This record gives sequence, structure tokens and C-alpha cells, in this order.
Amino acid sequence: MQLALQAKKILVTGGTRGIGRGIVLAAARAGADVLTCYRHEGEAVDSLVRELKETGGAHHVVRADVGEIAEVDRLIGIARERFGRLDAVVNNAGVISHISFGELAADEWSKVLDTNLTAAYRVIQQTLPLLATGASVVNIGSRGAAAGIPLRAHYTAAKAGMIGLTRSLAKELGPKGIRVNVVAPGVIETEAFDAMPRDRAEGLRATYAQKTALARLGTVTELAGPVLFLLSDLSSYVTGETFNVDGGI
Ligand SMILES: NC(=O)c1ccc[n+]([C@@H]2O[C@H](COP(=O)([O-])OP(=O)(O)OC[C@H]3O[C@@H](n4cnc5c(N)ncnc54)[C@H](OP(=O)(O)O)[C@@H]3O)[C@@H](O)[C@H]2O)c1
Repeated sequence: MQLALQAKKILVTGGTRGIGRGIVLAAARAGADVLTCYRHEGEAVDSLVRELKETGGAHHVVRADVGEIAEVDRLIGIARERFGRLDAVVNNAGVISHISFGELAADEWSKVLDTNLTAAYRVIQQTLPLLATGASVVNIGSRGAAAGIPLRAHYTAAKAGMIGLTRSLAKELGPKGIRVNVVAPGVIETEAFDAMPRDRAEGLRATYAQKTALARLGTVTELAGPVLFLLSDLSSYVTGETFNVDGGI
């Protein structure tokens, strides 16, 4: 048994930055053909396309906002057209905002729920005809869903919903040989830290590091490792699990 994802066809939503980008590149390097999506054009898209070209394989980077159901359907149409089947799906695209509950407007609630939870419902439902026995779905949740985080009730509600979705689908799709799991990151350092003023980034690193057993934040590569394990046949008897990748919070 090997981790190798040779010739597996994998869809990763939200793959141009952060954790999604780490998963896309790690999967491509492990031999998979990857389709990923994003919302905004820019250097992150261009550099990902370049890096994937250097990696080899048949990869596709397309613009599609998974917060909109019609866009999800278009994305899955592209997966069908380009790959014909899918061996694995990673629901990674997510958005967050920090708002006190008393001021949380209905449209902000909907935006966060649409991207973090409803997108996963639609992506999985529409990919079902493309998923064969042995397929693996990984939903990116958040360690914060179980802990609770002030000012992020909408986000943690969506991520907690991801666990219920995963548990039920693991049971419903298990007899078809399809596994469904959650990977719940703690605090993972992404490019977002580089974009902050240095003092603020240092402050956040120190605050979060002291909450973990390993006394540091995680990297996107360290998050991608467990995701690849769950996508691979090495985890063929693992389903319905929430895998915390949090440095021991
Ligand atoms: N980083 C952490 O510490 C952490 C902790 C817990 C959970 N998570 C979860 O991990 C996932 C990735 O987080 P991250 O920190 O890597 O985020 P990030 O750095 O903000 O990157 C998000 C990626 O998803 C894409 N995306 C966002 N909304 C999208 C949409 N509606 N349709 C298509 N693509 C979309 C973005 O593309 P554009 O730039 O084009 O919008 C970008 O490529 C999220 O589900 C997040 O909740 C992260």
C-alpha cells in the first residue's frame, strides 16, 4: 500500500491560496491530476498555473465561485468534461469575518454559510455520478467549530454543520464504497500572515502558539499531509472521522 495518488482525478475547491493551494500542489506532486477553482484573478492564480505546469500531469485551474449553486454546477460540468470521473473531492474553499453576533447581518450570515457549508452540499451531490467505489471526500472544517470562537458564530456554525454533513454522508455513501471525512485545522500560517503588518503577525503567532502543545502554528504542508492520507488508499477503512490537525490545542 502506498500514499501515491498516481492518475487519481481530484477536485479541490479554493486552491489558489493558503491551505487549498498547499493541498493542490501536494496532490499534484503525489501524481494526481487536479482541478481547482478560485474567485479572483491575480498573481496567485498565475503562479499556481506555472507551478502545476512544472509538476507535470493534467491540471486545470478555473474561475468558479462555489458560494453560488449555478457556479458549482458549472464547475462539476468542467470536472465531467475534462476528467470523466473523480476519485476524490476536497471541499476547502472558505471565507471568514469577525463580527459581533448582535451586528451580524443576514446577508453576511448567508455569505459565510453559502461558501463554507452549502457549497460542500452541492459539490458532493453533483459529483456523486462521477464518484466510484473507493472514492474519498475530505471536508475542510475548523478546530474552532468544537471550541467556539467569539465574533465568528456564523463561521463556527457552518464548520460544525460540516461535521454533521460528513457523519451522515459517511453512513449514506459508505455502502457504495465512498468515504467522507473532515480535516479540522487549528491555526495554519498562510500568505495572509505576510499581508499583515509585522507587529500584528508576530502578536498573532505568539498568542496562538502558546495555545498549542507544539508551541507553534502549523504550515500548509503539515495540513496537506493528513489530507493526502485521507484521499489515499492508506486510509481505506477510515470514514466519518474528524481529524484535528492543530498542533495539540
Ligand atoms: N488558515 C487557517 O488557520 C484555518 C483554520 C481553520 C480552518 N481553515 C479552513 O481552511 C480552508 C482554507 O483556509 P485558508 O486560510 O487557506 O483560506 P485563504 O488563504 O483565504 O484561501 C482561500 C482560498 O479559497 C478560495 N475561495 C474562497 N472563497 C471561494 C469561493 N466562494 N469560490 C471559490 N474559491 C473560493 C480563495 O480564492 P480567491 O482568492 O480567488 O477568493 C483562495 O484560493 C477554509 O475552509 C478555512 O475555513 C483555515
